[in-house]
Amino acid sequence: MSESGVRSGGAAVESPGAAGAAETRSHRLAVIGGDGIGPEVTAAALTVLDAAEARFGFTTERTDVPLGADNYLDTGELLTPEAVELLRGHDTILFGAIGSPRVTPGILERGVILALRAELRQAINLRPVRLYPGVPTPIAGLTPERCDLVVVRENSEGSYVGGGSTVHRGTPGAVATQGSTNTWYAVHRAVDFAFRLAQQRRRRVTLCHKTNVLVEAGALWSDVVEEVAARFPDVEHDYVHVDAMCMHLPVSPERFDVVVTDNLFGDIITDLGAVLQGGLGVAASGNLNLDGSAPSMFEPVHGSAPDIAGRGWANPAGAALSLALCLASLGEGDAAAAVESATARVLAELPELSGAGMGGSTAELGERIAAAVQDSGEGVQSSLMTQLAAVQAGLRD
Ligand SMILES: NC(=O)c1ccc[n+]([C@@H]2O[C@H](COP(=O)([O-])OP(=O)(O)OC[C@H]3O[C@@H](n4cnc5c(N)ncnc54)[C@H](O)[C@@H]3O)[C@@H](O)[C@H]2O)c1
Repeated sequence: MSESGVRSGGAAVESPGAAGAAETRSHRLAVIGGDGIGPEVTAAALTVLDAAEARFGFTTERTDVPLGADNYLDTGELLTPEAVELLRGHDTILFGAIGSPRVTPGILERGVILALRAELRQAINLRPVRLYPGVPTPIAGLTPERCDLVVVRENSEGSYVGGGSTVHRGTPGAVATQGSTNTWYAVHRAVDFAFRLAQQRRRRVTLCHKTNVLVEAGALWSDVVEEVAARFPDVEHDYVHVDAMCMHLPVSPERFDVVVTDNLFGDIITDLGAVLQGGLGVAASGNLNLDGSAPSMFEPVHGSAPDIAGRGWANPAGAALSLALCLASLGEGDAAAAVESATARVLAELPELSGAGMGGSTAELGERIAAAVQDSGEGVQSSLMTQLAAVQAGLRD
């Protein structure tokens, strides 16, 4: 592994190309299926990965890491130091989803997901919001040309790690406080990444916050944006309050290229972004470790969806598109583009984007995407995959 920059695989990674390259590239992949539909969509993504490996001539050594509700209920453990060390020994991680009605809300979410992102120094959560051609969106008149933005969500702070306390819980005298942590270091890391990414795209960064009310955190974020912007004179920047963002996103997503925002706001606006794309089942994300100290982790935006778990009704597209981001970050650019293209193609063919009317189960859709990977040529892949690789290469320099 390189001392700095995003991990790029176990063996020497040459420019990825067609099968038959002189040396087989191999990547150590940890797989955390998790709870509910997590294991279902992850299994489908692995079927897609099999096809990508066969076509593009690389391999993965896969390790299943059993984190989630079952493990917690069996052992009482959340994320142990041993599990963190095991994950650190991998080049990348595919994650399904965590959360179960059998466990009090917050225990698994904070004890596993947030803990993983923190332990593995996954500084930002990258969430593309892209409407693929032919995919139905509930937003009347929205076209793919108008919907192609990326949200860079700060992934380690905000109200997700701020301290808090409760007294007199369950009584009318209950008092709960919940803080929000904002350090120059973490905000700067996210904002710098956003500007680097925008440089590869349409050269526009929008800060999304609530600076008119959250004046302390808001001022820090605004100061950092101004400071970083001075180093990127070729990138325009502007500002939108998070409540106004909820109005602008569905009405005029074309005004955004890269949106940088805090942990909580990023979580919320990307569920709205997912709706623009066709639903939660379609949206992908990457938790990126930017300093090369640990693996990045790729996961669909959705949760464990207990309401549809076990029925084969979950759309695996978000998991497959997360796999594409994972492959891009490993340096497998051609495979990443083929997986994105194949997923978009299958999505456009589905009668419905979730539930019994998808035209196939989760596993069957995984097989269809895998089949499309075999023969996907020039497709609808976005340039995000190459943009991500370029930003990562820049960070390594
Ligand atoms: N990163 C994560 O692991 C993560 C993220 C969000 C929520 N959660 C957890 O997941 C659990 C359920 O949360 P929720 O119901 O609020 O959110 P959810 O994302 O699991 O589900 C919201 C709605 O979207 C639907 N949906 C989600 N993914 C889908 C898919 N791939 N295909 C078709 N439909 C899909 C569900 O059926 C549900 O109706 C909770 O425990 C929550 O804390 C985990």
